[in-house]
Amino acid sequence: MTDTIPLPPTPVLETARLILRPLEMRDAPAMQRLFPQWEVVKHLHAGIPWPYPDDGAVTNAAMSLETRARGEKFYWVITLKGGDDEARGRIDLWPFDGQLQDMRGFWLDPQLQGQGLMTEAAEAVTRYAFEVLAWPFLYLTNSTQNHASGRIKEKQGAERLRVEPKDFMSGPGERQVWILTREAWLARQGN
Ligand SMILES: CC(C)(COP(=O)(O)OP(=O)(O)OC[C@H]1O[C@@H](n2cnc3c(N)ncnc32)[C@H](O)[C@@H]1OP(=O)(O)O)[C@@H](O)C(=O)NCCC(=O)NCCS
Repeated sequence: MTDTIPLPPTPVLETARLILRPLEMRDAPAMQRLFPQWEVVKHLHAGIPWPYPDDGAVTNAAMSLETRARGEKFYWVITLKGGDDEARGRIDLWPFDGQLQDMRGFWLDPQLQGQGLMTEAAEAVTRYAFEVLAWPFLYLTNSTQNHASGRIKEKQGAERLRVEPKDFMSGPGERQVWILTREAWLARQGN
């Protein structure tokens, strides 16, 4: 699937409660307020600067927008439908590179967690990957300690392939590697 680069422009995606819109530089202040919380980063891959620098979100947004400009990844900010358009989280998607076996990442404002919102966002992005981009599968990963993230994959119909060592912000641990095939996802949709 490496031949899918450059990717098409990032579309706006809508769910029952969310609008996912392309990341912009104006989202950096909201990201800077929400992202540097241990609850958000503890299960993410090691290497995120910590303590998070004051310009962390600006730097990350600039890098993300450069990657986006090369057509390599999609970056959506998660906003509440009928809300103030403020970014409350993020979801990223990228094509299989033949190695990493990881193609999607997400995080959400802790104040909004536990309401099924990331399940909605993940479904919208997955629908886009399978129905519009016609990708045949998504490789997905999470820390074995990250039960909420694993549960979202399970609910989507993903199959756990293996567990392997991985360093996280919280220290050395293990990650689960999953595959979500278009067939399994479609079967779960009742299609
Ligand atoms: C992972 C994350 C995005 C989930 O967002 P969310 O909106 O709270 O998730 P949802 O409410 O859509 O779904 C979570 C599911 O996990 C379940 N869950 C949550 N905590 C759980 C736990 N400790 N054990 C088992 N299941 C758990 C929920 O019950 C729900 O499943 P259900 O619908 O069957 O009840 C959010 O916790 C987050 O931002 N975490 C920090 C960043 C992160 O870890 N990102 C993922 C990296 S792989």
